[in-house]
Amino acid sequence: MTSRVPPIKNASPHATEPVLGGYPAIRMRRNRKASWSRALVAEHRLSPADLIWPMFVTEGKDARTTIASMPGVERLSVDLIVDAAREAVRLGIPAVALFPFTDPAKRTDDAREAFNADNLVCRATRAIKAADLDLGVILDVALDPYTSHGHDGLLIGDEIANDETNAALVKQSLVQAEAGADILAPSDMMDGRIGAIRAALEAEGRHNIQIMSYAAKFASAFYGPFRDAVGSVLKGDKRTYQMDPANTDETLREVALDLAEGADMVMVKPGLPYLDVVRRVSDTFKVPTFAYQVSGEYAMLQAAIANGWLDHDKAMLESLLAFKRAGAAGVLTYFAPKAARLLATT
Ligand code: PBG
Repeated sequence: MTSRVPPIKNASPHATEPVLGGYPAIRMRRNRKASWSRALVAEHRLSPADLIWPMFVTEGKDARTTIASMPGVERLSVDLIVDAAREAVRLGIPAVALFPFTDPAKRTDDAREAFNADNLVCRATRAIKAADLDLGVILDVALDPYTSHGHDGLLIGDEIANDETNAALVKQSLVQAEAGADILAPSDMMDGRIGAIRAALEAEGRHNIQIMSYAAKFASAFYGPFRDAVGSVLKGDKRTYQMDPANTDETLREVALDLAEGADMVMVKPGLPYLDVVRRVSDTFKVPTFAYQVSGEYAMLQAAIANGWLDHDKAMLESLLAFKRAGAAGVLTYFAPKAARLLATT
């Protein structure tokens, strides 16, 4: 004999709401009985329009190189980046984010290659824009692919110099805007950089360049594979500028400041380990809030998939849907093309 659970008086989680009754009048499983019914009551849905595809650009022609820690992701030469951009449009992915693998010989203490109008990301952006696609191009604003020490800012003595770095980021932003970037994404976590970049864009009459600020970016262990991908060898760590993973109230101040300085959208990074932050930021500000499923998250999933411990498609889609549930407007993810292809057929 099964013992009967006593009837529940108020099944509502909110004590002030009317009594709703309980089992057996209510059986939560009824709505889950078939896939059509589950589709009918689904609260969140993932679509290709939610995805931003990060790509790595390398020198050469018809060149692709693998990245050991990121199975399935390749660095692509500019011509192949344009093909990938066309593929993004075919798949309904609205935007791509470009990151350069800069020749180590061009990495310097002053990051001067970042201001070269013919650097890899600028050339790739021009090539994509020349193809006249309905596709947004996002460029990272940060110095780490260009510095010899791998930091996002300029080192003066032992310190990442905030204001000197901001001046450099403004120069980088203007070069990237000139190349045709639609969205600038400062990922450096300097104080005041959004305001400085916004003021410079306005002064140049570039009123429509969007800024997606990496507003709540944590000093995380999960960026390791990305540094392999862009060939960045970091001396030390980024804890004097990226946020302490212990903090969440602080993210609200970071986001408030970036919005006040002129950001159009904000980002939380990394993604899955920081969904609580995505939820707080999206609830608090009601602005487009993006999340970055970073390289380490991708690598973890791929490692488990390669071992046969997780199902590729299911783990991928579940991890991406989690961002929507947490309130994200969209997700930067290395799974973007695979997820979009799968979503088109399911
Ligand atoms: C550069 C930058 C990083 C990432 C995006 N932009 C690395 C870092 O801040 O150290 C990480 C992306 C990823 O891990 O996928 N500032």
